[in-house]
Amino acid sequence: MHLIQYATEADGPALAKVNVQSFQSRLLLGAVWPESDQNTIQEFKIHVGMRHLANPNMHVVKIHNDSGELVTYSRWQFPASLGESHVTLSDEAALILKNIDAYTPRPMNETVYKAFKQLLAEARERHTRPDDILLDLLATLPEYQGQGYGSAILKWGIEKADATKSRIFLEATPAGVPLYLKYGWRHLEEVTMDLAQYGGTGVESYYMMMRDPVL
Ligand SMILES: CC(C)(COP(=O)(O)OP(=O)(O)OC[C@H]1O[C@@H](n2cnc3c(N)ncnc32)[C@H](O)[C@@H]1OP(=O)(O)O)[C@@H](O)C(=O)NCCC(=O)NCCS
Repeated sequence: MHLIQYATEADGPALAKVNVQSFQSRLLLGAVWPESDQNTIQEFKIHVGMRHLANPNMHVVKIHNDSGELVTYSRWQFPASLGESHVTLSDEAALILKNIDAYTPRPMNETVYKAFKQLLAEARERHTRPDDILLDLLATLPEYQGQGYGSAILKWGIEKADATKSRIFLEATPAGVPLYLKYGWRHLEEVTMDLAQYGGTGVESYYMMMRDPVL
């Protein structure tokens, strides 16, 4: 049984590591920050990730393995009726967040970043209602994938969704689709992002998926 806990500010570096390393095969980050190495992006993600921790509607949960390493984390946006998360940031983290521009790697392809955000925001708008749960992110460090950590976090969220008769919406990468199908999500729409249109290379797909509550 994997222990699921709420993440705190102190987890920032480990969350950023899971985030960047698990998505390293995706093309987006390289298109947004073409000249930045993984460490630079990871460092930035520590700071920018604080925005999610401080958001009372965003529930950031994690699993450590038996050796204490943070191996999986997930972000769930719950409607306020499902309760709020209470992570208070230190003054230092809050100040960095306020001045996040100064910490953003450069050069940054703002156009591709905005296009990506807009593409997913519009898809969310098309498919979701205010009372839906949104699974914003799920990632496991590459060397620990396939060991049941992702499933454990999904079951945690599914239990809450079923108990409150809520739907769960997500935007899956191709890597995530089989797992979500297994746990009851259905396909809504494939959204593609042609990075070449914005100065990058390649095309990336995101699969809009919904899970209806099992009553
Ligand atoms: C998708 C992801 C979150 C799943 O997390 P996980 O901790 O590996 O999940 P589980 O161990 O519970 O595995 C679930 C299923 O994924 C498959 N799987 C996951 N990792 C795998 C790997 N490295 N090799 C083969 N199969 C794998 C297995 O088929 C498994 O199904 P099973 O239970 O029937 O064996 C993880 O693979 C990941 O972080 N991928 C990269 C980031 C990403 O794309 N995230 C999804 C965003 S929507």
